[in-house]
Amino acid sequence: MKHVFTGTVLASALLLCAGTASATVKIGFMLPYSGTYAKLGEAIENGFKLYVKEQGGKLAGQDLEYFQVDDESNPAKATDNANRLIQRDKVDILVGTVHSGVAVALAKAADDSDTTLIIPNAGADVITGPLCSKNVFRSSFSNSQPGIAMGMVAAKKGYKTAVTITWNYAAGKESTSGFAQSFEKGGGKVLKNLTLPFPNVEFQPLLTEIASIKPDVVYTFFAGGGAVKFVKDYYAAGLRKTIPLVGAGFLTDGTLQAQGEAAQGLLTTLHYADNLNTPRDNAFRADYTKTYPKIEPDVYAVQGYDAAQILAAGMNAVKGDVSKKAEMRAAMSGATIDSPRGTFKLSKAGNPIQDFYLREVKGDKNVSIGIAVKDLADPARGCKL
Ligand code: BEZ
Repeated sequence: MKHVFTGTVLASALLLCAGTASATVKIGFMLPYSGTYAKLGEAIENGFKLYVKEQGGKLAGQDLEYFQVDDESNPAKATDNANRLIQRDKVDILVGTVHSGVAVALAKAADDSDTTLIIPNAGADVITGPLCSKNVFRSSFSNSQPGIAMGMVAAKKGYKTAVTITWNYAAGKESTSGFAQSFEKGGGKVLKNLTLPFPNVEFQPLLTEIASIKPDVVYTFFAGGGAVKFVKDYYAAGLRKTIPLVGAGFLTDGTLQAQGEAAQGLLTTLHYADNLNTPRDNAFRADYTKTYPKIEPDVYAVQGYDAAQILAAGMNAVKGDVSKKAEMRAAMSGATIDSPRGTFKLSKAGNPIQDFYLREVKGDKNVSIGIAVKDLADPARGCKL
C-alpha cells in the first residue's frame, strides 16, 4: 500500500501555511499494483495523470492529492481496502478498479459512504445493472460488450460451433455469455464453456480438451499476465493451425511485446485500437509516449485518461467545489467525452455508449479492420435510476 504526496500537494501545503487557503481534492486510486493485472493498474494511473498534466496539473483550478491502495485483484480484501481510502484517507473521489469482483465491493462501499466512484476498467455487468447508482460512473465497458461484438463477427464468418475458455469469475463468465448470446442468435452453437480459477494459468488440460472437441472457433477472455501465457500456450500446442482463436481485445492489449509471434493475426473486439489515426488519438498517443518513454499506450491507459476527463466535466461544472455532489454528478453523467477511442456519452446507468472495433494483430499493433458494432450500449438490466 502506498501513500503518495505530489509536488503540487507540497506547494499547496506551503500556501496554506502562508495563510492563503487552497483546498486540494483527494483522489484515491484503488488499483492492482501487483499480480497478473499489475500492468493494467499502472497504465490506468498513467492515463489519469496524463490528462491532469495536460490541464496544467489541476482540474477546475484545484490541486489534486493522490492516494493509492494495491487491491491485489483480491475480492476478499476489497471492502477493507476501499475503507482505507474512504475512512482513513477521506478521499473525495475514488478511481478503481480492474477486477470485477473487487469492483463490486468497491461500488458498494462507495454507495454506502456517498463517495463518487469512477471505474476505469472492471466491467461487472451488475454495476450498471441492479447496483447502478448516481455516484458510480464507468469510463470503460461492461463485460458482455466485447463478447457480443465478437459473437456477431464469428457468426458472420460462418463458424457453426465454438468452445469458450476463461477464468471462472464475473468478467470471464459475462464475456463468454455475451459471446454465446450473439453467436447463437446468428446461428452458431457453443459446445462447451471451459473455465479455471482466477488467476491460474495451467491451461494444458483445457487445451487438450479443445483439441478433442474440435470446434470451428475458440472464444476467450483473458487479460494481463494470464493473457500472455494463454496466447503462447495455444500457439505452442499447435492449435492455431486447426482451430482459430478469437477473443475480447484484452487478450492482446498491452501484451503484444511479450506475446510476439504467438499473437500474430489474432482477431479481437474492443472499444479501442492502435491505428485509429484521428487527430485526437494521435495527440494522446504522442503525449503518452513522451511522458512515459518506452511504454505504448493501450486500452487501460485510455480508460484512465477518460476517467480523468469524466471527473473534469463534473468539477468544472461546480468550479472545483466537490462538496456539491449532486450538481457535479449530474454534469459527469451528461458529459460528452472527447476520448482517444472516439467521442462517447454515458448511458443512464453510467456506462459508455461506444463503438466496438474488430482488430487484427499485425506486428506490435492491434489494427482496426472495421467496426464490429456501432454505438453499443449495455443492457443495464435491473438498473432503476
Ligand atoms: C474485469 O475483471 O472486469 C476485467 C479485468 C481485466 C480486463 C477486463 C476486465
